[in-house]
Amino acid sequence: MSTTIGILHTTIRGDEKLIIEAAKKRNIQIKLIDVREEIFNRKTYKCDFDVALERCVSTVKGTHATRFFESIGVAVINNSSVASVCEDKFVTSCFLQKAKVPTPDFAMVFNTEQAVKSIDEMGGFPVVIKPPLGSWGRLLAKINDIDALEAVLEHKEVLGSPQQKSFYIQQFVKKPGRDIRAFVIDGKTICAIYRDSPHWITNTARGGVATNCPVSKEISDISKSASDAVGGGILSMDIFETDDGLQINEINHTTEFKNSEKPTNTSISGAIVDYCVKVAKNL
Ligand SMILES: Nc1ncnc2c1ncn2[C@@H]1O[C@H](COP(=O)(O)OP(=O)(O)O)[C@@H](O)[C@H]1O
Ligand SMILES: [Mg+2]
Repeated sequence: MSTTIGILHTTIRGDEKLIIEAAKKRNIQIKLIDVREEIFNRKTYKCDFDVALERCVSTVKGTHATRFFESIGVAVINNSSVASVCEDKFVTSCFLQKAKVPTPDFAMVFNTEQAVKSIDEMGGFPVVIKPPLGSWGRLLAKINDIDALEAVLEHKEVLGSPQQKSFYIQQFVKKPGRDIRAFVIDGKTICAIYRDSPHWITNTARGGVATNCPVSKEISDISKSASDAVGGGILSMDIFETDDGLQINEINHTTEFKNSEKPTNTSISGAIVDYCVKVAKNL
């Protein structure tokens, strides 16, 4: 019997369109589940697909949908334990460091006094302060000195949501005008891109330009270790090139890839569909 993949989604982006096309080419059935239109009631829900692929733009909705399907015995990719690590940059850093995967120094603090001490421990300014649950390079602050630190933290304290009051601080890493994004499925790096930008924030959502990055042994090794550290699945790694070798900055668990298929000449969407089918077959 052929597999049906349920795609849990909110807005359908170009990425989801590519996944749908790749499934069509492989004669794999897709069931689109707009989670905004669903009633997740365990007593009444009728599930008519074999495996779920979580692709929600909204992390909160995606998490609730994932937890719901797991509670009724449906496998979700990525599973909730992988997602709960990767959605939070601080938790990701803790898992990476625990598994001895090279990653920039970091700390979490809840007030300015501890922030100053933690930056001292890290070797001083500059540092980067990020919302632990952010994406698309939003609300990142590069802090070059104590004046900027005090100003940014006071703004967060006074104006921020409760989430903004957890200060995730990371050592600023000098990069060669680019970083690397590696696409990793089931521990294997299928392709990678460089993201070049004159700005220190290189996200393609912020104007970074994607070109093919050959997958070296160093990239595939660190990506495998990082994938193992957080529990595997369909992931993408943000990687920094430093004088001391590669470092994993963060791990994305519902990665956007539509601008990366052309430069890498790789069907990331196809690999995603193939992995979902493999998981469904092994259930
Ligand atoms: N510690 C850092 N040192 C240097 N550049 C950084 C650092 N942290 C983030 N950046 C830059 O900002 C980008 C976005 O940061 P990231 O942690 O990946 O958050 P997001 O979830 O918004 O993508 C990174 O891809 C990188 O270019
Ligand atoms: Mg990133």
